[in-house]
Amino acid sequence: MLRILVMNGPNLNLLGTREPEVYGTRTLGDIEAMVATHAADLGVDVEFFQSNHEGALIDRLHAAMGCADGVVFNPGALTHYSYALRDAIAATGLPVVEVHLSDISAREDFRAVSVTAPVCIAQISGRGAESYTAGLETLVEHIRKEDR
Ligand code: DQA
Repeated sequence: MLRILVMNGPNLNLLGTREPEVYGTRTLGDIEAMVATHAADLGVDVEFFQSNHEGALIDRLHAAMGCADGVVFNPGALTHYSYALRDAIAATGLPVVEVHLSDISAREDFRAVSVTAPVCIAQISGRGAESYTAGLETLVEHIRKEDR
């Protein structure tokens, strides 16, 4: 069975109360439950990880090498400036789909830039919690196609 890691970066632990007009009212736990249900429908295993620390996210990506088949990742604000995270994604060689709740292309100028997207297989943005389920589908489809 495919093993998928779903990662969330800084401040995403506050979903539910954090700027609900931008990010919605679902908590991270709600979103993870949605993703777990969708993963069961797709017949894949999922594991979840959230950290507010860049280094912890990098360590988790390194640990996923040889253990996970792919990653759905919302790097939060690190998306816009973390070359270390970008290098970590590239270094693992794992397929990663970048997801965002909000439409990062339609907000402040600094959010329109993703330094991580160029080393990801896809970016899904602006679909709220559905960005995660769509991200999971895109990732699983990609891995299954590669395996054929
Ligand atoms: C976000 C968008 C980022 O710009 C922001 O810093 C976040 C959340 C999103 O899911 O829309 O923390 O990644």
